[in-house]
Amino acid sequence: MTRGNISSAFLDELRAKNDIVDIASKYITLRKRGNSFWACCPFHNEKTPSFSIRQDGQFFKCFGCGESGDVITLIMKLENVDFLTAVEMLCKNAGIEMPTMAENDEMQRRKKQRDKAYQILKATTEFYHKNLLNAPNSQQAHYLQSRKINSAMIEKFQIGASLNYDDLPKYLLGLGFDTQDMINAGVVGKNERGNLYDFYGTRLIFPIFNGFGDVVAYSGRSVSEAPDHTKYKNTPQTIVFNKSEILFAYNFVRDLKKSHMLDTIIIVEGHIDVIACHQAGLTNTIGCMGTALTIQHAKKIKQLVDNVILCLDADNAGRMATYKAIDILKEEGLNVKVVRLDVNKAKDPDEYLKKYGKDNFMDMLSHAQDCVDFVLADSAKKYDLNSNADKNKYIQEALNYISKFSSPAEQEIYLNCVQQLVKIPIDVLRKSMVKKETKKEEPKPDKKIGEIVNNKYIIDSKIMLLAAVLYKKITNFDEISGIFSTDDELSELYRFLRQKVEEKTDFNISTLFDNFEINDKSMIDRVINYNFPDDAVFETMIADTIKRVKLYVLQEEKEKYRDLLINSKTDDERLNYLVKIKELTDKINKEKQ
Ligand code: CTP
Ligand code: MN
Repeated sequence: MTRGNISSAFLDELRAKNDIVDIASKYITLRKRGNSFWACCPFHNEKTPSFSIRQDGQFFKCFGCGESGDVITLIMKLENVDFLTAVEMLCKNAGIEMPTMAENDEMQRRKKQRDKAYQILKATTEFYHKNLLNAPNSQQAHYLQSRKINSAMIEKFQIGASLNYDDLPKYLLGLGFDTQDMINAGVVGKNERGNLYDFYGTRLIFPIFNGFGDVVAYSGRSVSEAPDHTKYKNTPQTIVFNKSEILFAYNFVRDLKKSHMLDTIIIVEGHIDVIACHQAGLTNTIGCMGTALTIQHAKKIKQLVDNVILCLDADNAGRMATYKAIDILKEEGLNVKVVRLDVNKAKDPDEYLKKYGKDNFMDMLSHAQDCVDFVLADSAKKYDLNSNADKNKYIQEALNYISKFSSPAEQEIYLNCVQQLVKIPIDVLRKSMVKKETKKEEPKPDKKIGEIVNNKYIIDSKIMLLAAVLYKKITNFDEISGIFSTDDELSELYRFLRQKVEEKTDFNISTLFDNFEINDKSMIDRVINYNFPDDAVFETMIADTIKRVKLYVLQEEKEKYRDLLINSKTDDERLNYLVKIKELTDKINKEKQ
């Protein structure tokens, strides 16, 4: 058996070395309850935990959205990566080698390219960093001093300097790297004459890390006065860098999550803002690097916390970005608070920290405004609320905004806020709100109820018995083999389990994810997640079920012979069937006693 071209045996080893509870707790806060660990599901928005992990079975299951799988699937979903990348990440985590696969495999080729890119980026980061440390009189070093970034931060963020355009390509060629690999990694370019040049030549270098702390890109900040020099030169999309998924300093915040209770993430715009915040001890700060937040960003944040504070630049661009970010973050179910800096005091968090100090900054964060309050108050500023026309426009806009939030309690709070601004009785506002919510989902038709009900008992029994086999509560297959002679997925599971037991191979439930297509609609999912009653109750349930199932099988068989009897053509045939039916009737009567 293989999955994604990797043998089940290797995947078993990989899972054994990457405990799903350890891995998951790097992303989410788990609480133990009974046999399982529970958390709010990272894949859908919820307030009470329905995401569970079984350590014994090494799998997860969300009873809310239905997602389930093993540790590999978990990483695929959490990191938004393909199967092989997830396997690669887990190999790295466990310190084992990726298995080798067919050379012509496209995946294999991409993996090699990625490995090369990581190696080149690592060498490049070290090169830039050493440059900076060895050139304390360089413009780049002076610039850092002028921004008061200390050496601890230079180390933590692996800040570096490119001193010219030629040294980096020479250095990398000297290490034996291939030109095309260097270009693919986004560190060098080729000019019209075919010469290689450092893509970030003469700039101050901020490495960008992925969630695991590997460098995947750079932002090169200009330190020259030349007006044609753009402020930042950033790595374009590469095989290891996707701008819409990476947040600056996310790796550090994630590490924080592992060692402390991380409760809130602060989001700022610029690199220097992030670094200044970390330097001030606010190590729960990440940067959106001047781009609009994406859903992927929001999902990554939600994996770590429920609460965020947006503290973007004081200018109008920062204000617009705040509005957009609120929508995206709210959509993912985050509690969002907003700090708007007074443009007359400081243009960004870095400047604020320098001018007013850490305590004042912290104080401002602790008084951050709820995001809806912010939007309601801030958008009112566009209008002259003393004019009726403006007042109406504002009410429209505000009610529209409020109606996006489903909870009536929340709506009530926000209506109060609008009421204070427009001084219109809250009842009137409430009535205008109600008109907006009209659409209700239509009921779903009941499909093939007869079919399902007829078979329901037997399917439930099969599921229960297989769960008992799976969790080693029964080991005698002979008693139940009768009902698993069919051609459905449950019988297939039965045969698989039986083989494993007969081979005496010690297998883990997570192995099933290699061998079966398991989703929230598959019956195997119900087997895996079977909710066992108390042992004593369960024992009688099993005995009872086995008996009923046996009866069911016998009766089915009897029915079959009845059909044959009705359609039989010769006396011989008839007699033969009658004997069978008699035998079966005896068996049934015996079973019933
Ligand atoms: N940015 C960028 N390209 C630009 C300008 C900005 O990629 N041409 C991104 C950078 O990630 C930058 C962030 O947007 O850190 C915020 O922009 P800005 O405030 O202009 O830069 P800062 O790094 O904050 O520098 P400053 O201290 O001058 O505000
Ligand atoms: Mn800035």
